Amino acid sequence: MKLVQAVIAILAGYAIISQGIPYLGSQLHHGTWPVVPTSLMKVYMFFVVVGVLTVFTFSEETKEELMAPIRAVYGKSSMVLVRMVVILLVSAVGAGVTYESIKPSFDSPVELRSIHPAPPSTISAYNKTINILTVTNPYRDDKENFAENVKQGGIVYYKNCFYCHGDKLAGRGHYYHGYFPVPANFQDVGTIAQLQESYLFWRIATGGPGLSKEATPWLSAMPIWKDFLTEKEIWQVILFLYDYTGHSPRVM
Ligand code: HEC
Repeated sequence: MKLVQAVIAILAGYAIISQGIPYLGSQLHHGTWPVVPTSLMKVYMFFVVVGVLTVFTFSEETKEELMAPIRAVYGKSSMVLVRMVVILLVSAVGAGVTYESIKPSFDSPVELRSIHPAPPSTISAYNKTINILTVTNPYRDDKENFAENVKQGGIVYYKNCFYCHGDKLAGRGHYYHGYFPVPANFQDVGTIAQLQESYLFWRIATGGPGLSKEATPWLSAMPIWKDFLTEKEIWQVILFLYDYTGHSPRVM
């Protein structure tokens, strides 16, 4: 029956757009499930419905077949009961949809997750208090030993970080697939290129557990490196991250 086919085609179109597009997105960017915005969904569905109607009314015969059940219900006097039921059903669905769309929601508001929350003003590490707002990388201006410090930072990186952040610093280490949120991609302009070195020091020293409340619900796997590395090693690995990627740290 043509009418049933048309309805199935429209539902299939809906399923492909509402699930297929997010699925493709999730394949491109592991760990995400992009949603098609409602406004776009309406535009797509408009074209799907118009497309289906165009196909099913292409010739006189198919148009007749599509219309036949509708005409049968609405045209024949013997169908009065069925007609009433159909009209009632359509009105009930319309009323239901309207009610759902205007009724106030009691859900808690969506939690906004901040990828780069404001750092705390101080952290305690290495038996002292380090002021994250003012501290700078003491090895950045040491031109004489710069190459050596970058090299040492590289050693720290390949001993400790590349399992997660990847051998090319692009966030694709061996363990990458196991984590959500995924390890940061330092090549991406959205990570260290936007941050001050002091910010990196805070993130590396205190890891996922050091994140502030506004960064939840992050179940970050980033370890607390102040328990494993010296202060110097952290500053050296920071030099290495910028040197390897070619990004410059934000200065203010
Ligand atoms: C067990 C896996 C793992 C290891 C090992 C690891 N990291 Fe991470 N790291 C993560 C994850 C996951 C994130 C993203 C979530 C977050 O921001 O905490 C992250 C985030 C970061 C960030 C924040 C980037 C940003 O844009 O905010 C920095 C900087 C960082 N890591 C540096 C390092 C350094 C340096 C090492 C080695 C000393 C290291 N990481 C080792 C998992 C890891």
